[in-house]
Amino acid sequence: MFLAMLLLLLPFVLQPLPCSFSEAAASSFSKEIATDREALLEFKASLSQQSAALVSWNTTSDFCQWPGVTCSLRHKGRVSALNLSSAGLVGTISPSIGNLTFLKYLNLSYNVLHGEIPSTIGNLWRLQYLNFRANSLHGGILDGLRNCPGLIYIMLDQNYLTGGIPSWLGGYPNRVALLLSKNNLTGTIPPSLENLSSLKALYVNTNQLEVIAFGVDQNDLHGTLPPNWGNNQPNLVFVYLGVNHFTGTVPASLANATMIHTLDLGDNNFTGRMPPAIGTLCPGILTFDANKIEASGTGGWEFIMPLMNCSRLRVLSFRFNMLAGALPGSVANLSTHLQVFYTGFNQINGMIPPGIGNLVGLKKLQLSHNHLIGVLPSTIGLLKNLQALWVDGNQLSGIIPPATGNLTQLQLLTFDSNNFEGPLPGTIRNLQQLSSANLSNNAFTGPFPKEFFNLSSLSYILDLSDNNFNGPLPPEVASLTKLAYLNISRNNLSGSLPDTLSNFQSLLELHLDGNSFSGSLPTSISEMRGLVVLNLTKNLLSGTIPQEFGRMKGLQELYLAHNNLSGQIPGTFQNMDALYQLDISFNHLSGQVPVHGVFANSTRFVFVGNDGLCGGTTELHLPACPVQSGKHSNMKIQLQVLLTMF
Ligand SMILES: *[C@@H]1O[C@H](CO)[C@@H](O)[C@H](O)[C@H]1NC(C)=O
Ligand SMILES: *[C@@H]1O[C@H](CO)[C@@H](O)[C@H](O)[C@H]1NC(C)=O
Ligand SMILES: *[C@@H]1O[C@H](CO)[C@@H](O)[C@H](O)[C@H]1NC(C)=O
Ligand SMILES: *[C@@H]1O[C@H](CO)[C@@H](O)[C@H](O)[C@H]1NC(C)=O
Ligand SMILES: *[C@@H]1O[C@H](CO)[C@@H](O)[C@H](O)[C@H]1NC(C)=O
Ligand SMILES: *[C@@H]1O[C@H](CO)[C@@H](O)[C@H](O)[C@H]1NC(C)=O
Ligand SMILES: *[C@@H]1O[C@H](CO)[C@@H](O)[C@H](O)[C@H]1NC(C)=O
Ligand SMILES: *[C@@H]1O[C@H](CO)[C@@H](O)[C@H](O)[C@H]1NC(C)=O
Ligand SMILES: *[C@@H]1O[C@H](CO)[C@@H](O)[C@H](O)[C@H]1NC(C)=O
Ligand SMILES: *[C@@H]1O[C@H](CO)[C@@H](O)[C@H](O)[C@H]1NC(C)=O
Ligand SMILES: *[C@@H]1O[C@H](CO)[C@@H](O)[C@H](O)[C@H]1NC(C)=O
Ligand SMILES: *[C@@H]1O[C@H](CO)[C@@H](O)[C@H](O)[C@H]1NC(C)=O
Repeated sequence: MFLAMLLLLLPFVLQPLPCSFSEAAASSFSKEIATDREALLEFKASLSQQSAALVSWNTTSDFCQWPGVTCSLRHKGRVSALNLSSAGLVGTISPSIGNLTFLKYLNLSYNVLHGEIPSTIGNLWRLQYLNFRANSLHGGILDGLRNCPGLIYIMLDQNYLTGGIPSWLGGYPNRVALLLSKNNLTGTIPPSLENLSSLKALYVNTNQLEVIAFGVDQNDLHGTLPPNWGNNQPNLVFVYLGVNHFTGTVPASLANATMIHTLDLGDNNFTGRMPPAIGTLCPGILTFDANKIEASGTGGWEFIMPLMNCSRLRVLSFRFNMLAGALPGSVANLSTHLQVFYTGFNQINGMIPPGIGNLVGLKKLQLSHNHLIGVLPSTIGLLKNLQALWVDGNQLSGIIPPATGNLTQLQLLTFDSNNFEGPLPGTIRNLQQLSSANLSNNAFTGPFPKEFFNLSSLSYILDLSDNNFNGPLPPEVASLTKLAYLNISRNNLSGSLPDTLSNFQSLLELHLDGNSFSGSLPTSISEMRGLVVLNLTKNLLSGTIPQEFGRMKGLQELYLAHNNLSGQIPGTFQNMDALYQLDISFNHLSGQVPVHGVFANSTRFVFVGNDGLCGGTTELHLPACPVQSGKHSNMKIQLQVLLTMF
């Protein structure tokens, strides 16, 4: 007990040993002090929860055999590697770790370690690899690391570290891979980091670690990047600067860090044009989404040019910028290995270059929310590997080319908010992987596209709203039994609602409003037990509201307004516990508005425009119902229903 307390107090009593301590001195000194075994047991003791991984860490077994512990071959009984990644460790890191002075390799990543990094880490002068990724560590970047000459890999990302990036990192005696992403760091990137050059490859257990990275993404860093930052960094491979508040232009000097494979500049406030030379890096991944990078008809797109013939390019993404002008036709010469191409949410105008069909490696293509005009080129059908296609929010027109049906890997198709017209091509039925299709807000015509009934893969969204589809809703629509969301609002569909709607056992939302559906409400609707939202507003539906609707216990929103419905509000509605929005306005409903159950608070219920309704809670200000008449009129209506049924 006393020893434990003394150990806890140690960091306050003793100054950490300087890293420059000589090997001989350190080794003789460490023999005098407690052994590595005790340091490890102390490390274990500071964990607040006994982790299963450390159960066999006990006094009777050889600690060199303990899980996660590797001892030095040359220096018997000294720990050279401690790898307790993902070991379920909860608690603080004991300062005793600083006694493992032969440690070269320390991996405590993916645990729940909290508190500050003990300053005694500065004693580990042999350390080459330090990985505390994905814990809950607080405090600043440890000053004690400052003079540890062997360290070439510092991975502190995904913690809660605060404070700035110390400029001494730039003057580091060795070259270091630095990952500080996803912390709470603030301040700027110190200019000295332009000298944090040639991050070295690291060999651990003969496996070369390829991650040679500079990562500071998702912090609160601001300011401009040092203009010369990219010079003198010949070995830099991964650069993560995303989700900070960097401003100014992207330094052209980055193009001199020729080993860069990944350049992530997303979610900052970089301005100006993308330096054309960046394309010469031939990166595997280039993203600068959500910045203020500009281009126009007269310039700014030059960075694309050198990316041609870059066969290693896999991801090119520049959504949410200020890129205007036409997409250069040269995109057709981008690598056929390109898998992800995102251009959305810019001001790109002109037509989709037909040459885009050359990019046969594409899996995801996003052209959304630009000012694109013209047709969807039929060469799109050449993109046989495409899994997701977004062209929504443009001014594209003409028909959907039949070749679209050749995209047999397509899972997501988003064509909404354009001026597409005509019937859909029959080849749509070949999209056997399609799980979600949004075609809303166009000028499509023709009967309800039966091609979709063939696509049992449709499990998420089918949205055909705001088009000009006409004719009946075929009963086969309910063959889409996996569908979660069906919206065919605001078309010219007519006829009665098919009884088969009951087959929609996965449906959460059904939007049929703004059509000309007539006839009565099928009782079978109530068999869609998962339904949460039902909108039948603005149709020509007549008859009564079936009592059975009250069985839809999960229904939260029911809109029946602007129809010709008559009769009473079913008493069963009082038990629809989830119902919080009910709009039955502008029908011919009559009789007593219920007062119990969900009707006790009718603030979000709308009843206006039904001359015959009475009663309800006082807030509704409806006329009182005539005494005794409720039962009578109820019977009268039921009689009418019976009469109309037979
Ligand atoms: C760690 O080393 C210090 C001396 O620096 C010594 O006092 C302490 O007992 C050691 N702790 C353990 C747990 O080995
Ligand atoms: C210590 O761990 C070893 C290996 O897991 C086990 O065989 C032994 O029973 C343990 N001893 C004690 C005292 O828990
Ligand atoms: C460290 O442990 C992790 C997780 O168990 C494992 O993936 C990794 O290969 C280990 N590293 C070494 C050098 O043993
Ligand atoms: C450290 O642990 C992580 C996560 O388990 C693992 O991916 C990594 O390879 C380990 N480091 C080394 C050098 O083995
Ligand atoms: C770190 O930032 C996150 C998100 O911005 C915030 O929720 C958290 O409170 C911050 N933590 C510290 C220790 O500053
Ligand atoms: C980078 O290193 C050079 C040469 O050692 C030195 O002259 C220069 O001042 C350093 N730059 C910064 C910003 O520290
Ligand atoms: C970019 O600047 C705008 C206004 O100048 C600011 O509202 C926004 O938060 C900034 N974004 C980032 C990621 O810093
Ligand atoms: C790239 O490096 C060369 C050679 O050191 C230098 O002349 C050039 O100015 C650098 N480019 C930029 C944009 O800094
Ligand atoms: C791409 O390669 C082709 C054929 O090898 C060549 O003609 C063209 O000039 C190259 N383009 C660029 C931008 O390097
Ligand atoms: C689509 O596939 C058919 C049959 O495989 C083929 O004849 C047609 O040329 C293809 N169209 C496109 C644009 O790929
Ligand atoms: C229901 O349909 C009406 C008429 O089309 C529409 O105005 C309203 O926004 C829809 N409500 C919901 C929640 O979908
Ligand atoms: C009625 O419901 C509304 C909105 O759902 C809520 O704001 C209000 O507090 C509720 N009134 C009573 C008396 O429960």
